[in-house]
Amino acid sequence: MEAPDQRAVVSGNRVTGPRLIVALDFPTPADALDLAERLSPARCRLKVGKELFTRGGPQLVRTLVDGGHEVFLDLKFHDIPNTVAGACRAAADLGVWMVNVHAGGGPGMLAAAREALPAGGPLLIAVTVLTSLTASDLHAVGIDDAPEEQVLRLAGITRDAGLDGVVCSALEAGALREAFGPRFCLVTPGVRPAGGALDDQRRVMTPAAAIRAGADYLVVGRPVTKSDNPEAVLLTLESEIASVIDA
Ligand code: C5P
Repeated sequence: MEAPDQRAVVSGNRVTGPRLIVALDFPTPADALDLAERLSPARCRLKVGKELFTRGGPQLVRTLVDGGHEVFLDLKFHDIPNTVAGACRAAADLGVWMVNVHAGGGPGMLAAAREALPAGGPLLIAVTVLTSLTASDLHAVGIDDAPEEQVLRLAGITRDAGLDGVVCSALEAGALREAFGPRFCLVTPGVRPAGGALDDQRRVMTPAAAIRAGADYLVVGRPVTKSDNPEAVLLTLESEIASVIDA
């Protein structure tokens, strides 16, 4: 059965277009472009992270954008406000769909990033507490609050600075949705199809569970990139999502 077109606007929420974001975690631009050519922009967005960007540079991003793909530039900018503002403007000039910064850069940096981006420009998302950090890691850098409290604090300054939302674990999505309402955009990695391999992810959710928990966009890497049939995996993920959205 053909999965429903996800380009429809989902009512009550700001989500438009495909909810799936495929993480192009490849060591070479050629591998990334090979997969991108097989994936329809109507079915997914593409995420370019630090490794691929450092190897492929802005030209790779331009090639993806020129091919009709909407790109999440996942470079997690974190610097003085003036520098982050310039980096955000550069991302907007590349024509990316979404860009992100670290909320830990503080209210001034977040405000500068927001002001740097034109109306109708890329969605601006913040990273709160990296899911790789434990309570003891936070303690080591002087933060004694529990990670969940720190996530809510950083998401709060993100919302107050006018950003569009945050990257978060699907396990945090429910609390963030409750605290910040339906228009705050939640982008969640750690998603695995029901019964799929976990790889090195530990706390995963299925696409349907993540959407039910409040996620807007789902970042999926290896289940698609390591598959012999990435298009088929996308269809399976889409169907899982559609089954929840249509319910
Ligand atoms: O292959 P997999 O689906 O695990 O890839 C998930 C993607 O999301 C990777 O690009 C990873 O770096 C990113 N990510 C994550 N967990 C976070 C933030 C980003 O897995 N907390």
